[in-house]
Amino acid sequence: MSKNANHDAIAQAAMAAMPRAYAPYSQFQVGAAILDENGIIHTGVNVENAAYPQGSCAEAGAIAAMVMAGGKAIQAIAVSGRGDLLCTPCGGCRQRIREFATSDTPVVICGEDAIKAEFTLGDLLPHNFGPDNLD
Ligand code: THU
Repeated sequence: MSKNANHDAIAQAAMAAMPRAYAPYSQFQVGAAILDENGIIHTGVNVENAAYPQGSCAEAGAIAAMVMAGGKAIQAIAVSGRGDLLCTPCGGCRQRIREFATSDTPVVICGEDAIKAEFTLGDLLPHNFGPDNLD
């Protein structure tokens, strides 16, 4: 997918997912949506836990949904969160995305109702380590 591809569908899916997040501790809801190689969109939200480290990120949920559905290649991913700052994927999620994506994969950052920025995974995780390193 080119950098100028229209990412409205995954952006809308991420923003629609966001209010379903379970975030009673941080009050920071995050939605994620992945377009896979089969043209299917998979969504996820963050799910927090009273034992704080057991919480999981929205991107992890979307990746799990993709794998469950048979997808293996992230064509593009959108992440949605509120606030003035960009809700970019955390460091751990950048690596989780890398497992199923390349440095060229678009990462679309959304607010509550619009796209705010677009990066590639390589922008966010330069000189990354992925499955190819183990060949
Ligand atoms: N969070 C995500 O879901 N994805 C990210 O990439 C950044 C952080 C969640 C984790 C936690 O539930 C809340 O946002 C506050 O950190």
